[in-house]
Amino acid sequence: MSQLPSDPKPLTSRKAGALQGTVQVPGDKSISHRALILGALAEGRTEISGLLESEDILCTARALQALGAGVEERDGNWIVTGAGLGGLIEPAAPLDFGNSGTGARLMMGIVAGHPLRAVFTGDGSLKKRPMGRVLDPLKQMGLQIAEEGQSKLPLTLIGTSGLVPMEYRLPVPSAQVKSAVLLAGLLAQGRTSVVESEKTRDHTEKMLAYFGAAVSSEAVDGGTRISVEGRGTLHGRPVTVPGDPSSAAFLAAAAILCPGSDILIRNVLVNPTRTGFYETLKEMGANISFENERELNGELVADLRAKAGKLKGVHVPAARAPSMIDEYPILAALAAFAEGATVMDGLGELRVKESDRLAAMVAGLKACGAVAEASGDTLTVTGAALVRGGAGVATHMDHRIAMSFLVLGLAAEEPVTVDDASMIATSFPEFRGLMGTLGATFDDGARD
Ligand code: S3P
Repeated sequence: MSQLPSDPKPLTSRKAGALQGTVQVPGDKSISHRALILGALAEGRTEISGLLESEDILCTARALQALGAGVEERDGNWIVTGAGLGGLIEPAAPLDFGNSGTGARLMMGIVAGHPLRAVFTGDGSLKKRPMGRVLDPLKQMGLQIAEEGQSKLPLTLIGTSGLVPMEYRLPVPSAQVKSAVLLAGLLAQGRTSVVESEKTRDHTEKMLAYFGAAVSSEAVDGGTRISVEGRGTLHGRPVTVPGDPSSAAFLAAAAILCPGSDILIRNVLVNPTRTGFYETLKEMGANISFENERELNGELVADLRAKAGKLKGVHVPAARAPSMIDEYPILAALAAFAEGATVMDGLGELRVKESDRLAAMVAGLKACGAVAEASGDTLTVTGAALVRGGAGVATHMDHRIAMSFLVLGLAAEEPVTVDDASMIATSFPEFRGLMGTLGATFDDGARD
């Protein structure tokens, strides 16, 4: 049964005409978390422009404040006054990460390396998600958990100033796990390494180098080893956060589905560890392109043009999953309109996201009259020229499920209602407003 927040906010989308215009999506969620965290560990001041001001990021900002770092908004920018490596203090109250797995897991890495106790908690969705994948390596480095044998929030973490460095091979392709271990490694005496067999998003490594940490990356048998030297000094730096490609994906998908659309999304992060969705769209025959590629504090950005067009089904290999892990829900919605079957392999990680996204997508697509099936870790969606819609969809406290079905409703024959759109604020509070700017409005049942 779906567990909804106390005040769910249903939202309905219906067939839309051509979307037009130029917009900018808010800052990348992954980079926003990391900019706040590294700023808090640095010496001096980090000024962040374009920070994503969503619930997930505000939870990380509040947690860092509670741990003694200075984090404040000033004239639209965020100023972080670092405590320096090892300088965080014990929080007076539990740290609440809301819906955010990234916030909770990355922060476990830094709490592990400070001699303090901190209670980690979150919302109903986060409390169901596995934390053992981060706690296991951190315990090997010296972290203690008061609730022995438990690995779901709430948990009381007991950090130490004596973390032991290690080399850790990732058992799952997770940038969150890699980042938690590297952040703990910053606080350990010596060199900490993570070996990954599949490349996951590399923003932590890139930003660590930008802040002056001794970080390196090398090809090894069966993957990449990323290493960081502990107990150096990080220096506060200005950070400009590029637009989030995972948020842009919903706007691009809407433009592809609504006949006559032509939109430009400026300033989108196009780091190759994040662009698997766009690569897949091109293979499906979508009319999308990156224009004006350039570099912004060590990250690649571009303007993204998306136009309406027909799609054909493709096979999406498992090896591509880490570079588009958050985009499968919207890809599955698009695949419902493609000619032929889209087969997506290697999706086991989708079961442990903000909801079981495999189950949620199959159930929602079927409710909308589309043909979808999950078998093991493979999702197959067989497209059709017409998708009926005309359904209520359960979002299971998952922002990306909500946005995916609202986009699907823009091209379905009958309106689609999601049971709760409030979770969209965790990653993309501007979603509804930006869709309106482009020409698509949603209906929340409120009277003018
Ligand atoms: C993230 C990594 C991904 C992704 C999440 C953000 C990050 O999770 O799903 O939205 O910022 O490191 P995993 O690395 O656990 O797959």
